[in-house]
Amino acid sequence: MPQKLSIQTAAFAAASAPLTIIYAAEGEAPAGAGAAIWSATGLDWQAASASAAFKGKQGQALDIIGQGAGRLIVLGKGKSEGDVPLNAWTDRGGSLLAKIAAARAESVAVVIDEAGATPAAIAELAAGLRLRHYKFDKYKTARPDDPAADIAITLHVADPAATDTAIADRDAVVEGTLLARNLINEPANVLGPVEFAAKAAELSDLGVDVEILEPAQLEKLGMGSLLCVAQGSERPARLVVMQWRGGDVGDAPLAFVGKGVVFDTGGISIKPAANMEEMKGDMGGAAAVTGLMRALAGRKAPVNAVGVIGLVENMPSGNAVRPGDIVKAMSGTTIEVINTDAEGRLVLADALWYTQDRFKPRFMINLATLTGAIIVALGHEHAGLFSNNDELAIRLLNAGITANEKLWRMPLSPAYDKLIESKFADIRNSVGRPAGSITAAQFLQRFVNNVPWAHLDIAGTAFGAAATETNASWSAGFGVALLDRLVRDYYEG
Ligand code: BES
Ligand code: MN
Ligand code: ZN
Repeated sequence: MPQKLSIQTAAFAAASAPLTIIYAAEGEAPAGAGAAIWSATGLDWQAASASAAFKGKQGQALDIIGQGAGRLIVLGKGKSEGDVPLNAWTDRGGSLLAKIAAARAESVAVVIDEAGATPAAIAELAAGLRLRHYKFDKYKTARPDDPAADIAITLHVADPAATDTAIADRDAVVEGTLLARNLINEPANVLGPVEFAAKAAELSDLGVDVEILEPAQLEKLGMGSLLCVAQGSERPARLVVMQWRGGDVGDAPLAFVGKGVVFDTGGISIKPAANMEEMKGDMGGAAAVTGLMRALAGRKAPVNAVGVIGLVENMPSGNAVRPGDIVKAMSGTTIEVINTDAEGRLVLADALWYTQDRFKPRFMINLATLTGAIIVALGHEHAGLFSNNDELAIRLLNAGITANEKLWRMPLSPAYDKLIESKFADIRNSVGRPAGSITAAQFLQRFVNNVPWAHLDIAGTAFGAAATETNASWSAGFGVALLDRLVRDYYEG
């Protein structure tokens, strides 16, 4: 059985558990409700902290065992001056969970009484607890030393009722991020296009309207670009359309489009064996879009949003698309397939065109694990941002900073666009190594017309980054918190 984590809130006076955690700022004794709990130990703060060389620095812990009230841990929170950004609270929640897990505690009281501990800040801390607690271990046979007991954490705060409301709202977004992580971590033998579509269909329980388009319908729509990627696989393509109608009837929706290659072998232009298993995560864009729809519906966001994901498997076979083949996209554009491993842009070409054509959205943002070149440029720190609209780009950059899912803007220009011209068709899907992420973005832009549009190349951030305070798993769920933040901060009300 996986370990469960439950989080609840209570007033300061109720703080009592086998393990109590309070905070102290650097060079200071515990303050507020923490001071009262400390004084109940009967210990002298100066003497106790000095003997353990506890200075209150971030990450430091002073562990007091054997007191009447049970075990007490004082956690350092660093210097107290200055405004703390919201995402520092998320990180604090993450490191708190790590401390609690290391202490093997089952029932914990955490006292948070300080300036800046608003309901929104505590909700971030609670989100950090849950995000750090996440594990994808469903395929591991349990070992005897696994912690069997569930963890129950009570956050003792100034305003429990307001904090509960803030936590419930933030929890919807956590659920979205964790859904995206699960989809990405799931192996491709379990999660094919059909199975992914079924997962998306489960969002109808939350009031999302889900349509699943099958190959015959995609054929009819003229999606020769998306379909050519799927033709080498035994498993048929799906295009999933998810609609959340939380805004006014008739208001143009915000549109999100995701690359959902459930496995990318490269096709006939097959990839080398090293690390190919990571290509089970090549549906990270589709996972983020699905997670975002989960988040928006879960918190009943007052906005109209549509999520469109193109689900295919890129396999080599006797029926696979070949280098040199020319296909026709829904837009009418003809594409020379130079490299069958540049398949994500072929999927998105039709998904983007379809989305702007059908929904006339306010904006269209696509997410895709599109190019290895974006990892060369930005590593695992920032996702690449490409946009035809400065206002949308700046809003995305801001949302990325607030949510701590950072973006870095890359250029688009007619000179780069020229590079994708083909000898035999309108455009080609692969150009060569120079500016590989940019030419991929230029390819996508051919399918967006004049809609404000942004492309997020998340090849470096969707999976495979080093562990952080808020994520100990291979996949990150990158994009869900970022886009929820964008919607919240700029498009509601
Ligand atoms: N899915 C890959 C990009 C990728 C690489 C994502 C590593 C995550 C980690 C994409 O389909 C791909 O193969 N891109 C090629 C494009 C090239 C053939 C023009 C690449 O980046 O090499
Ligand atoms: Mn590829
Ligand atoms: Zn790919």
